[in-house]
Amino acid sequence: PLKVGVLISGRGSNLQALIEACRDPATNARIVLVLSNKADAGGLKRAAEAGIPTAVVDHKAYGDRAGFDAELDRRLKGAGVGLVCLAGFMRILTDGFIAAWRDRMINIHPSLLPAYRGLDTHARALADGVKLAGCTVHYVRPELDTGPIIVQAAVPVAAGDTPDSLAARVLAAEHRAYPLALRLIATGRARVKGETVRLQGEILPETFIM
Ligand code: GAR
Repeated sequence: PLKVGVLISGRGSNLQALIEACRDPATNARIVLVLSNKADAGGLKRAAEAGIPTAVVDHKAYGDRAGFDAELDRRLKGAGVGLVCLAGFMRILTDGFIAAWRDRMINIHPSLLPAYRGLDTHARALADGVKLAGCTVHYVRPELDTGPIIVQAAVPVAAGDTPDSLAARVLAAEHRAYPLALRLIATGRARVKGETVRLQGEILPETFIM
């Protein structure tokens, strides 16, 4: 199985979805390490309950981003990680770290990229009156919230939605999309080639979530 390291900063509901997916041998992946930059991240408890090693690497303890990223790199390598999953990890990573993990690091973002990169995606989508929202799992490139797209899931925007109600609907889609992306990679059915991902075989119905 593919050895996975998950980076979190908070609640860890996407981490939980990945933990549950890895219980299925068909996923062909095992989470070997969870790293958080915050000691009070709820996801640390979820990992511990699942018997997964955790560590806190507090960004405030490092003089610069490069020092923080070097420690993340050291821990991930020490655990033999082959794929890094960013799951609500709210730190900007250096170009050097991203280059070192190129095509071996993926992220989940709460919008249908390339729309709504950055923060406050749901409030901005509602202000624009869009009728579909969603999430994207993508390989990480140096420019924030860009990179080859592996899986997207779309959900409808409802009349009367608030940023919170829309976020909850998108989050449910995230919990399906992230495990799917992991499974596609870990079973060799998604391959990144340059700036796009090729999905092998038939179109998977799970990639269209409505
Ligand atoms: C998720 O909605 C994720 O897409 C988002 O943070 C949330 C984390 O929730 N990520 C970003 O905004 C990255 N810039 P979780 O901790 O429950 O998985």
